[in-house]
Amino acid sequence: MMQPAFLLVLLLSAVVRGTNDWSKPCLDGQCSYDLPNSDGSASGSLKIWGSPNAISDITAAAGWTIIGCSKNALAQDIRIVCSSNGASSGCSHLLQNGAEGKIVRLPENCGQSAFARVAKLWVHADQSLPSDIAARLVRRDGTQPQVKGVALDTNFAAVDPAKSGNVSIAIEGATVPGANGNLTITPATGPQRRSRLAQRGLFGFIEDAFDKFNSFDKSVTKALPPVDVNKNFPLFEQKASCGPVAASVKADINTKAHAVVTVGVAASGTIVPPKLDDFGLFAGLDAELDGTLDLVASASGTIDSGEKTLFEVGIPGLDFPGLLSVGPTFKILGQAKASLDLNVDMKVDLSYKVDGAKLFFPASKDKKSGGGFTPGDTPLKLSVSPSVSSKGTVEAHVIPRVDFGINALGGIAQATVGLDLDASAALTLTLNADANAAVTVKPSRRSAVNRHRRATVTTSTGASVNGCVEIGAGLDVAASADGSFFGIFDKSTKVSLFSKDFQLFKKCLGASTGSAASKRSNVRRTPIKGALERRALTCSAGNTATDLTSIIDAVLPAASIKRSFA
Ligand SMILES: *[C@@H]1O[C@H](CO)[C@@H](O)[C@H](O)[C@H]1NC(C)=O
Ligand SMILES: *[C@@H]1O[C@H](CO)[C@@H](O)[C@H](O)[C@H]1NC(C)=O
Repeated sequence: MMQPAFLLVLLLSAVVRGTNDWSKPCLDGQCSYDLPNSDGSASGSLKIWGSPNAISDITAAAGWTIIGCSKNALAQDIRIVCSSNGASSGCSHLLQNGAEGKIVRLPENCGQSAFARVAKLWVHADQSLPSDIAARLVRRDGTQPQVKGVALDTNFAAVDPAKSGNVSIAIEGATVPGANGNLTITPATGPQRRSRLAQRGLFGFIEDAFDKFNSFDKSVTKALPPVDVNKNFPLFEQKASCGPVAASVKADINTKAHAVVTVGVAASGTIVPPKLDDFGLFAGLDAELDGTLDLVASASGTIDSGEKTLFEVGIPGLDFPGLLSVGPTFKILGQAKASLDLNVDMKVDLSYKVDGAKLFFPASKDKKSGGGFTPGDTPLKLSVSPSVSSKGTVEAHVIPRVDFGINALGGIAQATVGLDLDASAALTLTLNADANAAVTVKPSRRSAVNRHRRATVTTSTGASVNGCVEIGAGLDVAASADGSFFGIFDKSTKVSLFSKDFQLFKKCLGASTGSAASKRSNVRRTPIKGALERRALTCSAGNTATDLTSIIDAVLPAASIKRSFA
C-alpha cells in the first residue's frame, strides 16, 4: 500500500508540469497562469476566458518586445515594439478591433499582475530603441517598427463588457505545493449560475477545490514556517489610594503560542465586469495555545480592559497581484473584566491543543469545518481575603485569531474573514462574612511576597473563607466576516468549528460546603465588548487585612478537564 506522502509526491510531480508556457501566445480567448514555484511554498493557477477580441497577449510569444517595464507596478505606461513581421505576426491580434479595453497577458518580468487592462494605446513620442533591440529590429534600409505606448492597469471595472463580452476568471491556490495546474473544470457561466447560493456545490468548482485542500498531507503543512510567541502582555493596571497603602487592580496575560496556518482559496466569476460569483476560503490550523491571566486586586470596583490586540504578525499568504490576494495575520487578543470588592490574587491558565482544525468558508455543503480541540493541564491559583462578604466576578478571554484579508479584482472588493479561538474563563466568588460554620482553610504553601503588591500571602491558619468559588471555562472557535464580499458572504456569515462551556473548578467552603459540582457551568461568558471601560476604584473592605487565604494552588490535570470537556 502506498503511503500518503508518496502519493503526494506523485501528485506534485504531475502538477509541476502544468506551469506557465511562455513559448505559446495566448490569442484564442483562453489564458492560464500558474504561480511561480520559486520559493517552493505557495502554488496556484488562474485562468481567464472570453472572446478572442477581449483577451490578448503582449509577451514575446505573441511577437512583442517590451521596453522599460517595472516588475513591481500594477499600473504603468510602457513602450512596446513588434519584433515580428508579416501577416503571421501575433502583434496584429492586440490591435484588431482596438486594443483599448483588452485584457492582456504580461510576461513574468513586467508588471505585478499576470494580466492587465489596456487603458490606452498610442504611437509613442519616443521612437528610440535600446541598442540590443535595435540590432535585432532595425532593417537594412534603416527603417524600424513603430514603438507604441501602452497604459496598463488593473482597473477592470473600466472595461465595457458591451464591446467584446464578459471575460470569465477561475482561480485556485494554496500556501502549500499541490494546488496548481488543474483548472480543467471550468465553472458554469450564464443562466445556469442563477440561484448560486441555493446551488452552491452543484457546479463543483469550489467543492472540488475544498476537496483538494481537505486532503493536504500533514507532512506538507507541517513544513510551513510556524508562528511562535512567548510573551507577557500587560492588560490593565489601575490604582487607588487607600490611606497608607496604594491599592490597585492589575492584570497581565502571558501567552505562549505555536501555530501553523495553511491557506487555500478558490474563486470564480468574471474579471469583466469584475464580479466573483463563487468563493471559498480554506484554512488549516495546528497549534498549541496557552494563555495565563494573572490578576491581582487590592481595590474594589469594576474594570474592563476592552478587547486588546496583544500580538500581531503577518504570515505567508497567497497573492495573485491585482486579481486575488489573501493576506493572513496571526493575532492574539486579550480581554479581562473584573468586578471585585475584596482582595484577590489569581492565576488561571487557558491551554488548548488544536489538531488538524479545518475551516471551509463560507460553509461548504460537503465539508464540515472542525478539528481536534483538547484542553491541556491547567494551573490554577486563587487566594482571597478571608472573613469578608463578597460577590466578585472575573472574566478573562485569550483569543488567538487569524485574520484573512481578502482583496479581489483590482481592489474592487475587500473583506476580512477572521478565525477566532476564544478561550475564556469566568470566576464567580460568593463569599459570606457570616462565620457560623467557618472552616479553616489549609495553610497555603505560598509565602513569597507577591510581585504586584505589598500584601503577602501568608500561612494564616486562623483565617476563614465561607462561601463558594466557581470557575467556568469555555472555548468557542468560529469564523466570521467583517463585511459583504460580492454578496457571497457578509457580516452575518458565521462558521462554527467548536463551542463548549464547561466547569473548570468549584469549591464551597464553610456553611455551603457540599459536592455541588455539576458538569455544566453556571458561569456564563458574556460577549466581549470592544470598548475600554474603566470605573473609579475604591478601597476594598478587606484592604486592611493584607493576608490572603489560599483556596487553590494546583494544576488541574488535562485528563480531568477532558472529562467535562467531552
Ligand atoms: C484534473 O481534474 C480532472 C477533473 O476533475 C481530473 O480528472 C484530473 O485527474 C485532474 N488532473 C490532475 C493532474 O490532478
Ligand atoms: C456578464 O456578467 C454580468 C455580471 O456577472 C452578468 O450579469 C451577465 O449576465 C453576464 N453576461 C453574459 C452574456 O454572460
